[in-house]
Amino acid sequence: MPLIPMRPLLDHAAQHGYGVCALNVNDMEQIQAIMEAARATRSPVIIQASRGARKFTNDLFLQHLMLAAAELYPEIPVVMHQDHGNAADTCIGAIRMGFTSVMMDGSLEEDGKTPASYEYNVAVTREVVNVAHRFGVSVEGELGCLGSLETGQGDKEDGHGAEGKLSMSQLLTDPSQAVDFVNRTGIDALAVAIGTSHGAYKFTKKPTGDVLAISRIEEIHKKLPSCHLVMHGSSSVPQDLVATINKYGGKIRETYGVPVEEIQRGIKAGVRKINVDTDNRLAITGAIRKVFVEKPEEFDPRGYLTPARAAMQQVCEARMKEFGQAGHASEVPIVSLAQMAQAYAAGKFGEAAKADAPSAAHKGKGGGASAMHH
Ligand code: G3H
Ligand code: 13P
Ligand code: ZN
Repeated sequence: MPLIPMRPLLDHAAQHGYGVCALNVNDMEQIQAIMEAARATRSPVIIQASRGARKFTNDLFLQHLMLAAAELYPEIPVVMHQDHGNAADTCIGAIRMGFTSVMMDGSLEEDGKTPASYEYNVAVTREVVNVAHRFGVSVEGELGCLGSLETGQGDKEDGHGAEGKLSMSQLLTDPSQAVDFVNRTGIDALAVAIGTSHGAYKFTKKPTGDVLAISRIEEIHKKLPSCHLVMHGSSSVPQDLVATINKYGGKIRETYGVPVEEIQRGIKAGVRKINVDTDNRLAITGAIRKVFVEKPEEFDPRGYLTPARAAMQQVCEARMKEFGQAGHASEVPIVSLAQMAQAYAAGKFGEAAKADAPSAAHKGKGGGASAMHH
């Protein structure tokens, strides 16, 4: 099956009330783990690569690995998504490399650290929508900055994230502003800030509503009932995975993630895409450490990459079942990028999702046509 855009998958998820985990990859084994989990649970999947992953893997390797996944698992609809694009050019580069969905994270400036102004966010996100929708590629935007409501600190554990202290209004997406943002940008999905952050150290104790604001998602959903919401930083940081790492010589401090039942509450309130990376990193690391300690004589990478891949597959299968995407692979409408481009142009996804006419774009709405020349 060819790689599909994200919008029809999220539309299907909304129709049937499920969420889809978006799983980060950096290498072949991670892609294999996801595809095996998808096959075992009959799940559609979103596979995403950060800028760091694209640099580590090289776009061409990534593109061919993803095409191999689509070819080897013809029954699984697969979305190839750019995670946290920092600039229009990053997203356009991804589109050129075959990504079927991109995230323009304009909540931060191009440096990936400085909280951006609202008007900058609207303009840069609109610029990406203008280009992406002409190619039938889906666009996720972000409003509000990820970071901890416990400490007020921005989220920079993974290299991409706000530095320093943030205000409550930056850390929590404003529902009225979300309406304006979606209407002005024409995005397909909106990532929201509710107190989650990337990496292993999200909460110092099991989170309650004051530090993990699922209620904010519910408020946004009330105002934007047909907008697909996205939860970033949504690893659950399972205690057993942390324990395995520490048992075999690792050093992970006491920490808590986003409980699966809170994500399920989010799914009931319009969350359709849930980003998970850290849980897989923990699973892989624990499995490799275990082999190194228990079989110090092992030096064939397959000896430790095989259990690592299996450990990641286990996490992926669990999330696919918990988020409800399991069993839906064969029902997702298979729409080509060309068909999507036509549907956007025809206004099928709303006037805002139509790309601006090039002349209008040049007059300051974002520069769709000029952006294509980068
Ligand atoms: O955005 C966060 C993801 O976990 C990707 O992290 O930038 O270290 O690849 P990364
Ligand atoms: P975690 O670090 O919680 O897995 O979040 C991943 C993420 O949001 C990627 O964009
Ligand atoms: Zn993220």
